[in-house]
Amino acid sequence: MRTPIIAGNWKMNNTASEGVALVEALKPLVCDANCEVVVCVPAIDIPAVSAAIEGSNIALGAQNVHFAKSGAYTGEISASMLREYGVKYVIIGHSERRQYFGETDETVNKRTLAAIEAGLVPIVCIGESLEERETGKTEEVLSRQIETGFRGIDDLSGIVIAYEPIWAIGTGKTATAQQANETIAFIRKKCAELFCPKCAEQVRIQYGGSMNAKNARELMAMPEIDGGLIGGASLKAADFSSIVHFDRPDMASMKLPKELL
Ligand code: PGA
Repeated sequence: MRTPIIAGNWKMNNTASEGVALVEALKPLVCDANCEVVVCVPAIDIPAVSAAIEGSNIALGAQNVHFAKSGAYTGEISASMLREYGVKYVIIGHSERRQYFGETDETVNKRTLAAIEAGLVPIVCIGESLEERETGKTEEVLSRQIETGFRGIDDLSGIVIAYEPIWAIGTGKTATAQQANETIAFIRKKCAELFCPKCAEQVRIQYGGSMNAKNARELMAMPEIDGGLIGGASLKAADFSSIVHFDRPDMASMKLPKELL
């Protein structure tokens, strides 16, 4: 019922020309995907990558958006600037932005509302730290992130949620499929309480945190997990294609040119 969505988060990697080379390699590899395929690229790569993916099944995402429509916000980028280049998705509230750039649940909320209003689909990131998990605070933290982050949103149909336990990001330490599934089930329950059971059934919730070609199949087999937000493993066409083919692992390797295996 929920179409899986596999999104690459390139973070601060790939110049525009490197990004174009990556999507050119990806296009033939993922053209038969049974899921939605997205690349969230650095803002300055957007024009070139947007042109390169035209006519393909790869959708374009940004990694942040400002909440004002325009104005005196030096260094920021508005939703309409993203829209003009065909950007469809935007990551909001990634833990790296929360950790290094002062992002809070309140600013996540403002950005999410602005993105929805402009017709972008926010991929809203939530997740607990290791200390929070170990002290039994995971549900409390996620509840707060959802309650504040989604304040004022009418329904969840235009949103994707990414559950990214901070301790699993870039560490090679993946949540077990069961852990991820259970926590995502909790997020869905919370969404049912705050919105409606039907909205909660329909909203897509990704897992993110050291998801790779090896563990994607097991994670994606879990009933609550609707996709992945992939950092490191989205930077190599072969790895990302293997994740996209989580449902047909043989296809992924069959299609790969020898030098990529
Ligand atoms: P990772 O990053 O796959 O490199 O752990 C995921 C993310 O930060 O979105």
